[in-house]
Amino acid sequence: MSFSPERRMRIGALISGRGSNLQALIDAGRDPAYPAEVAVVISNRPGAKGLARAEDAGLPAVTIDHKEFETREAFEGDIQKVLEDHKVDLIATPGFMRILTNSFVEKWPGRIVNIHPSLLPSFPGVKVHEQVLAAGVKVSGCTVHFAVPEVDAGPIIGQAAVPVHDSDTPESLAARVLKAEHKLLPLCVRLIAEGRVSIENGRTLVDAHPGEFEVFSPLL
Ligand code: GAR
Repeated sequence: MSFSPERRMRIGALISGRGSNLQALIDAGRDPAYPAEVAVVISNRPGAKGLARAEDAGLPAVTIDHKEFETREAFEGDIQKVLEDHKVDLIATPGFMRILTNSFVEKWPGRIVNIHPSLLPSFPGVKVHEQVLAAGVKVSGCTVHFAVPEVDAGPIIGQAAVPVHDSDTPESLAARVLKAEHKLLPLCVRLIAEGRVSIENGRTLVDAHPGEFEVFSPLL
């Protein structure tokens, strides 16, 4: 996948809820110099707030309710069709709370980008901030990575760190991490769209400029 200045990379966003990371991608794409744009938003939950964000931005917003399908394959078949109809190059799954099957993930090798609110491989799964606080770590953050069949795993594209304070609750920590997510995800998508990320032996090689990742890791 490489960057073509004539054609911005088309992102298909899969969401389940609030869609604040989706909003960060939509906002990034408003700059004509940004090399990617959200082409379609698909939610597995009817009425997800992210669908309204898509509509407000004039983007196609599609509900594919997983409860209406007998199998995951049938559900994903409909998702695949919408992605193809909208000529999507890259899938982003910010806050998409369904596990994708191996066969779907394998159809999009190195083309599904997920964001997780911890410094993977620490604290995968759910109730992430609760896990972080229970472990007593002093630094947390977020990770953008390519999806592989295993959940919350796959080559890491970028990470941003934030401090964990003694007084934190899961909510206060989530809010601090979320601010970093909103910067990290558009940056990582830009690096991919500019052809600056490659995958070798299960790791990424990222051609980032000095300091490109540091601006939003306020560890003080
Ligand atoms: C984000 O914090 C994202 O990292 C997390 O869900 C939130 C979605 O917020 N994802 C996961 O926990 C996936 N394992 P958003 O809908 O406002 O973007």
